[in-house]
Amino acid sequence: MSKERLVTGIRATGNLHIGNYYGAMKGIIELQEKYHAYYFIADIHALTTHPNPKDLKKKVLEVAKDYLAVGLDPEKSIFYVQSSIAEEVAELHTYLSMVMPLGDLMRCPTFKEKAKKHPDNINYGLVGYPVLMAADILIHQGSLIPVGEDQLVHLEIARKIVRRFNQLYGEIFPEPQPVIENAVRIPSLTGKGKMSKSDETASYIGLEEDTLMIERKVKKAYSDPTRIYKHQPGHPTVEGCNVYHLHTFFTSESERKEIIAACQGATIGCVQCKKSLSESIDVLLQPIREKREQISEDYLHDVLLYGKRKAKESAQEVISEVRKAIGLRMI
Ligand code: ADP
Ligand code: TRP
Repeated sequence: MSKERLVTGIRATGNLHIGNYYGAMKGIIELQEKYHAYYFIADIHALTTHPNPKDLKKKVLEVAKDYLAVGLDPEKSIFYVQSSIAEEVAELHTYLSMVMPLGDLMRCPTFKEKAKKHPDNINYGLVGYPVLMAADILIHQGSLIPVGEDQLVHLEIARKIVRRFNQLYGEIFPEPQPVIENAVRIPSLTGKGKMSKSDETASYIGLEEDTLMIERKVKKAYSDPTRIYKHQPGHPTVEGCNVYHLHTFFTSESERKEIIAACQGATIGCVQCKKSLSESIDVLLQPIREKREQISEDYLHDVLLYGKRKAKESAQEVISEVRKAIGLRMI
Protein backbone atom coordinates (compact mmCIF):
# COMPACT_ATOMS: atom_id res chain seq x y z
CA MET A 1 0.00 0.00 0.00
CA SER A 2 1.29 3.44 -0.94
CA LYS A 3 2.10 5.79 1.93
CA GLU A 4 0.46 8.65 0.09
CA ARG A 5 -2.79 9.72 1.63
CA LEU A 6 -5.88 9.83 -0.47
CA VAL A 7 -8.72 12.06 0.68
CA THR A 8 -12.10 12.67 -0.83
CA GLY A 9 -15.36 14.22 0.26
CA ILE A 10 -18.73 12.94 -0.77
CA ARG A 11 -21.61 15.38 -0.80
CA ALA A 12 -24.61 14.47 1.34
CA THR A 13 -27.12 15.16 -1.36
CA GLY A 14 -29.48 12.21 -0.84
CA ASN A 15 -30.29 9.27 -3.08
CA LEU A 16 -27.42 8.14 -5.23
CA HIS A 17 -28.07 6.67 -8.66
CA ILE A 18 -26.38 4.30 -11.10
CA GLY A 19 -24.69 7.30 -12.77
CA ASN A 20 -23.00 8.27 -9.51
CA TYR A 21 -22.03 4.64 -9.05
CA TYR A 22 -20.38 4.25 -12.44
CA GLY A 23 -18.91 7.75 -12.68
CA ALA A 24 -17.62 8.16 -9.16
CA MET A 25 -18.26 5.64 -6.38
CA LYS A 26 -16.90 2.54 -8.11
CA GLY A 27 -13.57 4.16 -8.93
CA ILE A 28 -13.19 5.81 -5.54
CA ILE A 29 -13.79 2.55 -3.76
CA GLU A 30 -11.29 0.62 -5.86
CA LEU A 31 -8.62 3.05 -4.61
CA GLN A 32 -9.05 1.84 -1.03
CA GLU A 33 -6.98 -1.21 -1.97
CA LYS A 34 -3.96 0.84 -3.01
CA TYR A 35 -3.81 3.85 -0.71
CA HIS A 36 -4.18 5.00 2.81
CA ALA A 37 -7.64 6.41 2.10
CA TYR A 38 -9.89 8.86 3.93
CA TYR A 39 -13.49 9.08 2.75
CA PHE A 40 -15.83 11.52 4.40
CA ILE A 41 -19.36 12.75 3.98
CA ALA A 42 -19.28 16.52 3.51
CA ASP A 43 -22.13 17.68 5.72
CA ILE A 44 -20.61 21.06 6.65
CA HIS A 45 -20.14 21.94 3.00
CA ALA A 46 -23.83 21.19 2.40
CA LEU A 47 -24.72 24.17 4.61
CA THR A 48 -23.48 26.65 2.01
CA THR A 49 -26.52 25.90 -0.15
CA HIS A 50 -28.74 23.44 1.76
CA PRO A 51 -29.14 24.56 5.38
CA ASN A 52 -31.87 22.08 6.20
CA PRO A 53 -31.71 20.82 9.80
CA LYS A 54 -34.68 18.51 9.27
CA ASP A 55 -33.09 16.13 6.82
CA LEU A 56 -29.33 16.72 6.87
CA LYS A 57 -28.69 13.84 9.28
CA LYS A 58 -30.93 11.53 7.31
CA LYS A 59 -29.13 12.36 4.09
CA VAL A 60 -25.75 11.74 5.70
CA LEU A 61 -26.88 8.30 6.85
CA GLU A 62 -28.39 7.42 3.47
CA VAL A 63 -25.19 8.32 1.65
CA ALA A 64 -23.12 6.39 4.22
CA LYS A 65 -25.33 3.35 3.64
CA ASP A 66 -24.94 3.63 -0.12
CA TYR A 67 -21.17 3.74 0.10
CA LEU A 68 -21.00 0.74 2.43
CA ALA A 69 -23.41 -1.14 0.18
CA VAL A 70 -21.24 -0.63 -2.91
CA GLY A 71 -18.17 -1.92 -1.11
CA LEU A 72 -16.48 0.79 0.91
CA ASP A 73 -14.63 -1.15 3.59
CA PRO A 74 -14.40 0.77 6.87
CA GLU A 75 -11.59 -1.53 8.01
CA LYS A 76 -9.43 -0.71 5.01
CA SER A 77 -10.07 3.01 4.85
CA ILE A 78 -11.14 5.75 7.23
CA PHE A 79 -14.80 6.55 6.68
CA TYR A 80 -16.29 9.41 8.68
CA VAL A 81 -18.59 12.40 8.65
CA GLN A 82 -16.92 15.80 8.11
CA SER A 83 -18.57 17.32 11.20
CA SER A 84 -17.02 14.56 13.37
CA ILE A 85 -13.77 16.49 13.13
CA ALA A 86 -15.39 19.93 12.88
CA GLU A 87 -13.06 21.47 15.49
CA GLU A 88 -9.86 20.56 13.68
CA VAL A 89 -11.20 21.33 10.20
CA ALA A 90 -12.67 24.68 11.22
CA GLU A 91 -9.46 25.69 12.97
CA LEU A 92 -7.31 24.76 9.99
CA HIS A 93 -9.76 26.53 7.70
CA THR A 94 -9.20 29.74 9.68
CA TYR A 95 -5.43 29.54 9.32
CA LEU A 96 -5.65 28.72 5.62
CA SER A 97 -8.06 31.60 5.04
CA MET A 98 -5.31 34.01 6.13
CA VAL A 99 -3.13 33.10 3.16
CA MET A 100 -5.88 32.92 0.56
CA PRO A 101 -6.45 36.05 -1.56
CA LEU A 102 -10.12 37.01 -1.56
CA GLY A 103 -10.05 38.12 -5.22
CA ASP A 104 -9.22 34.57 -6.41
CA LEU A 105 -12.11 33.15 -4.43
CA MET A 106 -14.56 35.67 -5.79
CA ARG A 107 -13.44 34.96 -9.34
CA CYS A 108 -13.80 31.21 -8.87
CA PRO A 109 -16.30 29.95 -11.50
CA THR A 110 -18.11 27.63 -9.08
CA PHE A 111 -18.69 30.55 -6.69
CA LYS A 112 -20.01 32.73 -9.50
CA GLU A 113 -22.31 29.96 -10.65
CA LYS A 114 -23.72 29.32 -7.19
CA ALA A 115 -24.08 33.02 -6.45
CA LYS A 116 -26.10 33.38 -9.64
CA LYS A 117 -28.27 30.42 -8.75
CA HIS A 118 -28.92 31.57 -5.17
CA PRO A 119 -28.76 35.39 -5.39
CA ASP A 120 -30.65 35.71 -2.09
CA ASN A 121 -28.08 33.65 -0.18
CA ILE A 122 -24.56 34.66 -1.17
CA ASN A 123 -22.95 33.86 2.14
CA TYR A 124 -19.39 34.14 3.41
CA GLY A 125 -19.16 30.32 3.52
CA LEU A 126 -19.95 30.08 -0.16
CA VAL A 127 -16.94 32.22 -1.08
CA GLY A 128 -14.81 30.20 1.31
CA TYR A 129 -16.03 26.82 0.04
CA PRO A 130 -12.68 25.97 -1.62
CA VAL A 131 -10.77 26.99 1.52
CA LEU A 132 -12.87 24.62 3.63
CA MET A 133 -12.24 21.95 1.01
CA ALA A 134 -8.49 22.58 1.28
CA ALA A 135 -8.80 22.20 5.07
CA ASP A 136 -10.59 18.83 4.60
CA ILE A 137 -7.68 17.61 2.52
CA LEU A 138 -4.80 19.10 4.47
CA ILE A 139 -6.10 18.08 7.88
CA HIS A 140 -4.87 14.59 6.93
CA GLN A 141 -1.92 15.73 4.81
CA GLY A 142 -3.79 14.42 1.77
CA SER A 143 -1.93 14.39 -1.52
CA LEU A 144 -4.15 12.36 -3.84
CA ILE A 145 -7.65 13.66 -4.33
CA PRO A 146 -10.23 11.82 -6.41
CA VAL A 147 -12.67 14.40 -7.78
CA GLY A 148 -14.96 15.05 -10.70
CA GLU A 149 -13.84 17.59 -13.29
CA ASP A 150 -15.98 20.34 -11.80
CA GLN A 151 -13.81 20.23 -8.67
CA LEU A 152 -10.45 20.73 -10.37
CA VAL A 153 -10.61 24.49 -9.90
CA HIS A 154 -10.97 23.94 -6.15
CA LEU A 155 -7.90 21.76 -6.11
CA GLU A 156 -5.99 24.46 -7.95
CA ILE A 157 -6.92 26.80 -5.10
CA ALA A 158 -5.84 24.19 -2.54
CA ARG A 159 -2.44 23.96 -4.22
CA LYS A 160 -2.08 27.72 -4.15
CA ILE A 161 -2.89 27.75 -0.44
CA VAL A 162 -0.30 25.04 0.19
CA ARG A 163 2.42 26.94 -1.68
CA ARG A 164 1.74 30.15 0.24
CA PHE A 165 1.39 28.41 3.57
CA ASN A 166 4.57 26.38 3.15
CA GLN A 167 6.47 29.47 2.07
CA LEU A 168 5.49 31.23 5.26
CA TYR A 169 5.71 28.40 7.75
CA GLY A 170 7.92 25.68 6.26
CA GLU A 171 7.16 22.47 4.38
CA ILE A 172 4.07 21.42 6.29
CA PHE A 173 1.73 20.22 3.56
CA PRO A 174 2.10 18.22 0.34
CA GLU A 175 0.57 19.77 -2.80
CA PRO A 176 -2.64 17.84 -3.43
CA GLN A 177 -2.97 16.29 -6.88
CA PRO A 178 -6.25 15.30 -8.53
CA VAL A 179 -7.10 11.74 -9.36
CA ILE A 180 -9.64 12.15 -12.13
CA GLU A 181 -12.73 10.05 -11.76
CA ASN A 182 -14.10 7.82 -14.46
CA ALA A 183 -14.98 10.08 -17.36
CA VAL A 184 -18.08 8.10 -18.36
CA ARG A 185 -21.39 9.89 -18.41
CA ILE A 186 -24.44 7.70 -17.94
CA PRO A 187 -27.27 9.25 -19.94
CA SER A 188 -30.62 10.13 -18.43
CA LEU A 189 -33.54 7.76 -19.03
CA THR A 190 -35.29 10.72 -20.65
CA GLY A 191 -32.57 11.04 -23.28
CA LYS A 192 -31.84 14.59 -22.16
CA GLY A 193 -28.35 15.02 -20.77
CA LYS A 194 -26.78 12.89 -18.05
CA MET A 195 -28.58 11.05 -15.30
CA SER A 196 -28.85 13.44 -12.35
CA LYS A 197 -30.65 13.39 -9.03
CA SER A 198 -31.56 17.05 -9.50
CA ASP A 199 -33.87 15.98 -12.34
CA GLU A 200 -37.25 14.24 -12.12
CA THR A 201 -37.12 10.79 -10.48
CA ALA A 202 -38.21 9.14 -13.74
CA SER A 203 -34.86 10.17 -15.25
CA TYR A 204 -32.59 8.08 -13.02
CA ILE A 205 -32.37 4.76 -11.24
CA GLY A 206 -31.51 4.96 -7.57
CA LEU A 207 -29.21 2.38 -6.02
CA GLU A 208 -31.94 1.24 -3.64
CA GLU A 209 -34.67 0.76 -6.26
CA ASP A 210 -36.22 -2.68 -6.60
CA THR A 211 -36.73 -4.91 -9.64
CA LEU A 212 -40.25 -3.71 -10.31
CA MET A 213 -39.36 -0.04 -10.07
CA ILE A 214 -36.38 -0.51 -12.40
CA GLU A 215 -38.59 -2.31 -14.91
CA ARG A 216 -41.23 0.42 -14.71
CA LYS A 217 -38.76 3.23 -15.23
CA VAL A 218 -36.84 1.56 -18.04
CA LYS A 219 -40.13 0.78 -19.81
CA LYS A 220 -40.74 4.51 -20.13
CA ALA A 221 -37.17 5.35 -21.17
CA TYR A 222 -36.59 7.36 -24.32
CA SER A 223 -35.30 5.08 -27.09
CA ASP A 224 -34.96 5.40 -30.88
CA PRO A 225 -37.27 8.21 -31.99
CA THR A 226 -37.25 7.02 -35.61
CA ARG A 227 -38.52 3.54 -34.79
CA ILE A 228 -42.27 3.67 -34.49
CA TYR A 229 -43.36 0.10 -35.31
CA LYS A 230 -41.80 -3.16 -34.27
CA HIS A 231 -41.41 -4.35 -37.88
CA GLN A 232 -39.11 -1.39 -38.63
CA PRO A 233 -35.39 -1.96 -38.10
CA GLY A 234 -33.93 0.08 -35.23
CA HIS A 235 -30.64 1.97 -34.82
CA PRO A 236 -28.79 0.29 -31.99
CA THR A 237 -25.87 2.69 -31.65
CA VAL A 238 -24.85 5.17 -28.95
CA GLU A 239 -26.12 8.07 -31.06
CA GLY A 240 -29.14 6.31 -32.55
CA CYS A 241 -30.82 4.97 -29.44
CA ASN A 242 -30.70 6.06 -25.81
CA VAL A 243 -31.67 2.61 -24.57
CA TYR A 244 -28.84 1.03 -26.56
CA HIS A 245 -26.49 3.67 -25.13
CA LEU A 246 -27.51 2.54 -21.65
CA HIS A 247 -26.97 -1.10 -22.64
CA THR A 248 -23.31 -0.29 -23.38
CA PHE A 249 -22.72 0.33 -19.66
CA PHE A 250 -24.77 -2.45 -18.14
CA THR A 251 -25.06 -5.33 -20.62
CA SER A 252 -22.33 -7.79 -21.63
CA GLU A 253 -20.82 -7.50 -25.06
CA SER A 254 -22.10 -10.88 -26.21
CA GLU A 255 -25.66 -10.06 -25.21
CA ARG A 256 -25.36 -6.67 -26.86
CA LYS A 257 -24.30 -8.29 -30.12
CA GLU A 258 -27.49 -10.35 -30.07
CA ILE A 259 -29.55 -7.23 -29.34
CA ILE A 260 -27.94 -5.33 -32.20
CA ALA A 261 -28.67 -8.12 -34.67
CA ALA A 262 -32.24 -8.58 -33.46
CA CYS A 263 -32.99 -4.85 -33.42
CA GLN A 264 -31.53 -4.28 -36.88
CA GLY A 265 -33.40 -7.33 -38.16
CA ALA A 266 -36.58 -6.11 -36.46
CA THR A 267 -37.06 -9.44 -34.71
CA ILE A 268 -37.26 -7.73 -31.32
CA GLY A 269 -39.03 -4.51 -30.46
CA CYS A 270 -38.19 -1.80 -27.94
CA VAL A 271 -40.29 -3.47 -25.25
CA GLN A 272 -38.13 -6.57 -25.24
CA CYS A 273 -34.91 -4.61 -25.53
CA LYS A 274 -35.92 -2.50 -22.55
CA LYS A 275 -36.79 -5.63 -20.60
CA SER A 276 -33.30 -6.95 -21.09
CA LEU A 277 -31.82 -3.56 -20.06
CA SER A 278 -33.80 -3.58 -16.84
CA GLU A 279 -32.59 -7.11 -16.17
CA SER A 280 -28.96 -6.05 -16.66
CA ILE A 281 -29.40 -3.11 -14.29
CA ASP A 282 -31.13 -5.35 -11.80
CA VAL A 283 -28.23 -7.82 -11.86
CA LEU A 284 -25.91 -4.94 -10.95
CA LEU A 285 -28.15 -3.59 -8.22
CA GLN A 286 -29.32 -6.78 -6.58
CA PRO A 287 -26.18 -7.42 -4.48
CA ILE A 288 -25.99 -3.71 -3.60
CA ARG A 289 -29.62 -3.76 -2.45
CA GLU A 290 -29.07 -6.90 -0.43
CA LYS A 291 -26.04 -5.45 1.30
CA ARG A 292 -27.87 -2.19 1.91
CA GLU A 293 -30.74 -4.01 3.61
CA GLN A 294 -28.33 -5.75 5.96
CA ILE A 295 -26.90 -2.46 7.24
CA SER A 296 -28.63 -1.70 10.52
CA GLU A 297 -28.74 1.72 12.16
CA ASP A 298 -26.57 0.32 14.98
CA TYR A 299 -23.94 -0.95 12.58
CA LEU A 300 -23.91 2.34 10.73
CA HIS A 301 -23.48 4.20 13.99
CA ASP A 302 -20.57 1.96 15.02
CA VAL A 303 -18.85 2.35 11.65
CA LEU A 304 -19.09 6.14 11.72
CA LEU A 305 -17.96 6.30 15.33
CA TYR A 306 -14.94 4.13 14.53
CA GLY A 307 -14.19 6.40 11.56
CA LYS A 308 -14.53 9.48 13.71
CA ARG A 309 -11.94 8.18 16.18
CA LYS A 310 -9.45 7.35 13.45
CA ALA A 311 -10.00 10.65 11.62
CA LYS A 312 -9.70 12.60 14.86
CA GLU A 313 -6.36 10.98 15.68
CA SER A 314 -4.91 11.95 12.34
CA ALA A 315 -6.46 15.45 12.39
CA GLN A 316 -5.15 16.23 15.86
CA GLU A 317 -1.63 15.24 14.93
CA VAL A 318 -1.69 17.59 11.95
CA ILE A 319 -3.34 20.52 13.70
CA SER A 320 -0.74 20.37 16.52
CA GLU A 321 2.04 20.49 13.98
CA VAL A 322 0.37 23.42 12.23
CA ARG A 323 -0.07 25.42 15.45
CA LYS A 324 3.58 24.86 16.30
CA ALA A 325 4.71 26.00 12.86
CA ILE A 326 2.57 29.12 13.01
CA GLY A 327 3.83 29.98 16.48
CA LEU A 328 0.51 29.73 18.28
CA ARG A 329 -0.35 28.29 21.70
CA MET A 330 2.81 28.97 23.60
CA ILE A 331 0.93 28.35 26.83
P1 ADP B 1 -25.96 14.67 -9.58
O1 ADP B 1 -25.89 15.31 -10.93
O2 ADP B 1 -26.79 13.44 -9.59
O3 ADP B 1 -26.38 15.65 -8.50
P2 ADP B 1 -23.36 15.04 -8.47
O4 ADP B 1 -23.15 16.31 -9.21
O5 ADP B 1 -23.63 15.09 -6.99
O6 ADP B 1 -24.52 14.21 -9.20
O7 ADP B 1 -22.12 14.09 -8.73
C1 ADP B 1 -21.55 13.18 -7.82
C2 ADP B 1 -20.50 12.38 -8.55
O8 ADP B 1 -21.15 11.48 -9.47
C3 ADP B 1 -19.56 13.24 -9.41
O9 ADP B 1 -18.27 12.72 -9.32
C4 ADP B 1 -20.09 13.10 -10.81
O10 ADP B 1 -19.07 13.22 -11.77
C5 ADP B 1 -20.68 11.68 -10.80
N1 ADP B 1 -21.85 11.60 -11.68
C6 ADP B 1 -23.03 12.25 -11.52
N2 ADP B 1 -23.91 11.95 -12.50
C7 ADP B 1 -23.26 11.08 -13.32
C8 ADP B 1 -23.63 10.38 -14.51
N3 ADP B 1 -24.85 10.49 -15.06
N4 ADP B 1 -22.72 9.58 -15.09
C9 ADP B 1 -21.49 9.43 -14.55
N5 ADP B 1 -21.08 10.05 -13.43
C10 ADP B 1 -21.95 10.86 -12.80
N1 TRP C 1 -16.67 19.83 -3.09
C1 TRP C 1 -16.74 18.40 -3.33
C2 TRP C 1 -17.95 18.13 -4.28
O1 TRP C 1 -18.79 18.95 -4.42
C3 TRP C 1 -16.91 17.66 -2.04
C4 TRP C 1 -15.72 17.86 -1.15
C5 TRP C 1 -15.68 18.57 0.01
C6 TRP C 1 -14.40 17.33 -1.38
N2 TRP C 1 -14.43 18.52 0.55
C7 TRP C 1 -13.62 17.78 -0.27
C8 TRP C 1 -13.84 16.54 -2.37
C9 TRP C 1 -12.26 17.45 -0.17
C10 TRP C 1 -12.49 16.20 -2.27
C11 TRP C 1 -11.72 16.66 -1.18
O2 TRP C 1 -18.03 17.04 -4.83
